[in-house]
This record gives sequence, C-alpha cells and structure tokens, in this order.
Amino acid sequence: MVSMKKILLGAFGALLVGVAIAAALLQLGAIDMAADSPHHPAVYRLIAWTREQSILRRAANIVAPTDLADAKRIRRGAGNYDAMCANCHLSPGAVDSEIRKGLYPMPPNLSSPTHSVNPGSQDSRRFWIVKHGIKASGMPAWSKGGMEDQAIWDIIAFLNTLPDLTPEAYRRQVEASEGHSHGGLTEHTDTAAMAKPAPEHHHDTTPHSHKKGAHKQ
Ligand code: HEC
Repeated sequence: MVSMKKILLGAFGALLVGVAIAAALLQLGAIDMAADSPHHPAVYRLIAWTREQSILRRAANIVAPTDLADAKRIRRGAGNYDAMCANCHLSPGAVDSEIRKGLYPMPPNLSSPTHSVNPGSQDSRRFWIVKHGIKASGMPAWSKGGMEDQAIWDIIAFLNTLPDLTPEAYRRQVEASEGHSHGGLTEHTDTAAMAKPAPEHHHDTTPHSHKKGAHKQ
C-alpha cells in the first residue's frame, strides 16, 4: 500500500514541476503584454471579477455626502471632469478619442446613458476608484496628484448627471464652473508650473500629421 507520506511527497513534487514550468514560460516571454492584443475572454472575466471583489470590499465603508445633488458641487465637478477625465471617458457628443481607443482595458464611456454598474453602491465605488486608481490600467489614483476628497465627491456628483446632458448642456456646465479647480497642485510646490500657460492643444481641431493619407474622417 502506498503510504500517505509518499502521496503527499508526490503531490508536492508535481506542484514544484508545475511552478518551474510556469516560471520558465514567463522567462521565455510567453505572456503578450501588448495593449493591442486582448486577454482571453476567460482571463478578462477573471481580472474583472477580482477587481470588483477588491473594490467592493474596500469601498464598503465609504459614506457618500448627502449633498451630491447640490448644483454648486455638480458645477465644480464639471470643470474638473472636462479637464482631467473627458479625454479618456468621453463627454456627450464625443464619439471617441485617440487615447481611449488605444487603452486596454478601454476606459468606459461615462457619459453613455447605458453605463451603470452596481447602482446601489455606485457613488462610493466610483469615489474609491477615482481616489485610488486601478492597477495596470490607465486609471490614475487622483489622490496622488493632490485631489482632495471633496473635489472627488464633486466629480462623482457631476458623473450622476452626465449621461442626461446634451452636448450643449455639457458645454454650459463646464463653462459655468471654475475649470480645473480642485486645488491639488496649488497646495504643493508646483505653483510655478500651474502659472505657465498651457501649450496649445491642437487635438480634435487639426488633422494629425501622423495620420496623413490614412485620415478617414
Ligand atoms: C488615461 C486615461 C484615464 C483618465 C485620464 C481617467 N481615467 Fe478613469 N478609467 C480609465 C480606465 C482605463 C478605466 C478602467 C479600468 C479597469 O477596468 O480596470 C477607468 C475607470 C474609471 C471608473 C470606473 C468605471 C466603471 O464603472 O467601471 C471611473 C468612475 C473613472 N474611471 C473615473 C474617472 C475620473 C472621474 C477621471 C478624472 C478625474 C478619470 N477617470 C480619468 C482611464 C482613465
């Protein structure tokens, strides 16, 4: 009869061989890290599930302020959203953006009326994501850039109104707000950098030289 000890040793040996093979495959570059080559759908689902479980747990004790419907909050959030988020997460009327197309995972279109995840815990979930970001995706941890909690809540308040805005209403909200005003940089040492005029951004208005000839629009 095979003893228990032998079975355990055999199982342990098999495990070691498995780990060694996996390590060898990784060292040979078997995993494709290119952003333009998607995961297997099962791997994608596993990562998405892991992410949502992680956020669910970490955002569970976050209590949203009661004044998220406040017009001043929403207005402040509009300017910051337009300055820092719209390029990746789009705005009403924007079909797509160059950066969004190339990101993997692709940033969800937060202005789309169909975009809704876990409506019950939506606000605290979003707050956690904006504050801490998401590893190995393009989503930054905005708190590291200096965004205060209250400024994040302003954006969450604005996000709740975003899918219902027409392109014109969106513009009006952004223009009525104080622009990029969350105060992160000015409270630190980058005040001089903030004072410098931003370089002209020709995106969206001028045809891109790198696309010459291949421009479809
Ligand atoms: C450089 C691109 C980029 C910028 C800029 C960016 N995000 Fe994201 N964001 C992402 C990506 C990519 C994801 C998806 C990450 C994932 O699925 O793992 C994401 C996810 C999110 C989500 C979760 C969406 C959902 O329901 O699953 C929210 C909310 C969000 N971002 C808000 C913001 C806000 C607010 C800003 C601006 C302050 C911002 N993002 C700026 C790339 C970006």
